[in-house]
Amino acid sequence: MSIPIKIAGVSFQVPEAVVTNDDLTKIIDTSDEWIRTRTGIERRHVLSGNETAVDMGIKAAQKAIKQSKINVEDIDYIIAAASVETHAYPSTACEIQAAVGAMNAACFDITAACSGLIYGMGIARALIKSETAKTVLIVATDAVSRCLDWSDRTTCVLFGDGAGAMMLTVSDDEQDDILAVSLKAEGNLGDYIKMPIPGKNCPLVEPNEQEPMFVKMNGKEVYKYVVTKLPIYIEECVEKSGLKMEEIDYLVPHQANMRIIEALEERLKFNPENVISNIKDYANTSAASIPIALTEAIQSGKIKLPATAILTGFGAGMTVGTTVVRLREGIA
Ligand code: ACO
Repeated sequence: MSIPIKIAGVSFQVPEAVVTNDDLTKIIDTSDEWIRTRTGIERRHVLSGNETAVDMGIKAAQKAIKQSKINVEDIDYIIAAASVETHAYPSTACEIQAAVGAMNAACFDITAACSGLIYGMGIARALIKSETAKTVLIVATDAVSRCLDWSDRTTCVLFGDGAGAMMLTVSDDEQDDILAVSLKAEGNLGDYIKMPIPGKNCPLVEPNEQEPMFVKMNGKEVYKYVVTKLPIYIEECVEKSGLKMEEIDYLVPHQANMRIIEALEERLKFNPENVISNIKDYANTSAASIPIALTEAIQSGKIKLPATAILTGFGAGMTVGTTVVRLREGIA
């Protein structure tokens, strides 16, 4: 018999500092009106001082541990989805492990950009179903503000910082909370969103300049790709789940652009009331965007539990990840 999995807790953490669209007009040629109408974004949280993605991840992890009432010693794996690593090594997952004291956990990071949480769920599900693990903590944390060219108005207005976490464990009843997962990648479209890692050759081989580490994006191509392909991938995943689209209560999409979210809503014929969006307050927080949107919607009562939901993300790679889940009471 397939081992049923429980989503035991979800959480999020964002930094305190807030930058509004109006604030951005002080450093680039933009306007609140342009940003709001093209993206839906009004403000974003950004790291300050010595705060890092790891710090946000630790706080999100601690909240998910508390919420799920799991003993830290019982966590078998910590998977961190972090597109913008604090250190190349140690991994973000190892740094979070040390801080939360989950010393029985194996730890590693994955890079799937904004699809990171869903990729993490796919891996965690396989680990639990194969009896390799009983409990897996996924932490999605990204500090994109540290990797933006703040003079490039085409990218810097779009992103914010944040972290989210999800605890998965073997279900103590028959209910399986993860009904289907679908992970896709199209590496041939890798040029759409890129962040080069700075590095240079040995000066004895050739003199060279160090390239800055900035996000570069072809927004138009990303937009076209997502509105064309994502609905098809979502429909495939829903079919795999055994549910019908009408039986799914909520759609929780990656928060990259309000116009993309509305296009999805229309194409999938989802009631706008049941499509979760908080892009206006957080902008695109990369891998953290889905757990932030999910947790906040549960805590505010916008998502009423128990419920079924589609979680879906896309990002650099290009990667796409979708899952159909059951959400129990008390997870946030
Ligand atoms: N303020 C004012 N004007 C701007 C700004 C700005 N911040 N940015 C661009 N413009 C200008 C452009 O220079 C251009 O001017 P021009 O016509 O004189 O050349 C004009 O606005 C239109 O620019 P477009 O790029 O055509 O604007 P578009 O409507 O395509 O919107 C956007 C751009 C918001 C980036 C959109 O393409 C988008 O959201 N794409 C998807 C992005 C996305 O989902 N990314 C996922 C990333 S996830 C990850 O993995 C990191």
